[in-house]
Amino acid sequence: MKGKRILLGITGGIAAYKIAFLIRLLKKKEAEVRCIMTPASCDFIAPLTIATLSENPVYIDFWNHKNGEWTNHVELGMWGDIFLIAPLTANSLAKISNGFCDNLLSATYLSAKCPVIVAPAMDLDMYSHETTDSNLKIIENRGNFVIPAEFGELASGLVGQGRLAEPETIVTFLEDYFSNENSFSEKTVLITAGPTQEKIDPVRFIGNNSSGKMGFRIADEFLSRGAKVILISGPTNEKLHHPNLTLFEIESAQEMLEKVQMNWKNCEIGVFAAAVADYRPKNVESQKIKKKEEELTITLIKNPDVLAWAGKNKTEKQFLVGFSLETNNAFEHAKSKLINKNLDLIVLNTLEDEGAGFKNETNRIHLIDKNNKITSFELKSKSLVAKDIIDCIKDSIL
Ligand code: CTP
Repeated sequence: MKGKRILLGITGGIAAYKIAFLIRLLKKKEAEVRCIMTPASCDFIAPLTIATLSENPVYIDFWNHKNGEWTNHVELGMWGDIFLIAPLTANSLAKISNGFCDNLLSATYLSAKCPVIVAPAMDLDMYSHETTDSNLKIIENRGNFVIPAEFGELASGLVGQGRLAEPETIVTFLEDYFSNENSFSEKTVLITAGPTQEKIDPVRFIGNNSSGKMGFRIADEFLSRGAKVILISGPTNEKLHHPNLTLFEIESAQEMLEKVQMNWKNCEIGVFAAAVADYRPKNVESQKIKKKEEELTITLIKNPDVLAWAGKNKTEKQFLVGFSLETNNAFEHAKSKLINKNLDLIVLNTLEDEGAGFKNETNRIHLIDKNNKITSFELKSKSLVAKDIIDCIKDSIL
């Protein structure tokens, strides 16, 4: 944690008193800490305590009433390596999940460029309320991390889930986060994403509904963990910019194969999320096809299987992940693809699971490895699915 910049947001709940201990632990680990407090939190712990322990001024208002100085929330958001909000009350959660920015903390949340980690704390009924639950899901689906509240005695005298995670637990979470940050720094990852388009004539093609979201989220997550990424993508609206990213934009399966053949030998990991067209028109007409007859027959021929090529040309040191989208006998089909294409891991999506599939922001996956171990996950945002896939790769190879 040495030298890590922790921007710490404190909101107004009784658990705010624990933040004094949290700051001490962070300072012991040689992190830099700057704190933003909501006005309500100042009733629970004195800003002077927080300023003294963090060895920095505390930010509460948009401007300093004494000297008229403005606090730049954009600059604060840029300063942190991480924005940790602890404790996060139900009220502040409702604000940040809905874009309110009526205090310095919520405005900084909107402008923060760094990852955000929240540690909620509230009474058990507030914590288990549907509204709180859906607000937590909203921010989680945006890629924020949630350190769940713990079970135990609450300030109300009731016992249940709602206690702020212990300062030690929060520090361990941060340490894990920072150790993940560069966990793939020695690795180059090849990713295929999006659909392919197979030309029929100059203005028409055969394509599919793949949005490219899953492959791009995986690329994004690998980049944030320090990997170099070579992303080969069919036409999509997704955008990604990063100094460690090389992006090849292709249209057809044949072009995708060529780029994979060029790059695979230089990569340690391959994740093939593209929805490659299995067939393409045998002949591509040079002029637009005019409508004449009642029926039109287009003869299709088989496309190369890009993933199978990578599997065939895989060395001992390479780890290859494929996707399998199934409508029936999902597990059987996925397992045979894992074997036939010489994969180390396969990600199964089945359209039998609601919310999984092409156009959705969410996905529900099952991971099957070479030893037939199956791990099934809940329905999640594609960003979180990307994390699950990469965590599994990490456990297998690092
Ligand atoms: N894939 C590929 N090249 C192809 C077809 C598929 O690289 N021509 C990859 C996909 O990116 C995915 C995996 O293979 O990782 C599974 O694709 P899928 O279409 O589900 O399987 P197929 O082997 O094509 O089998 P089928 O269409 O019969 O289910």
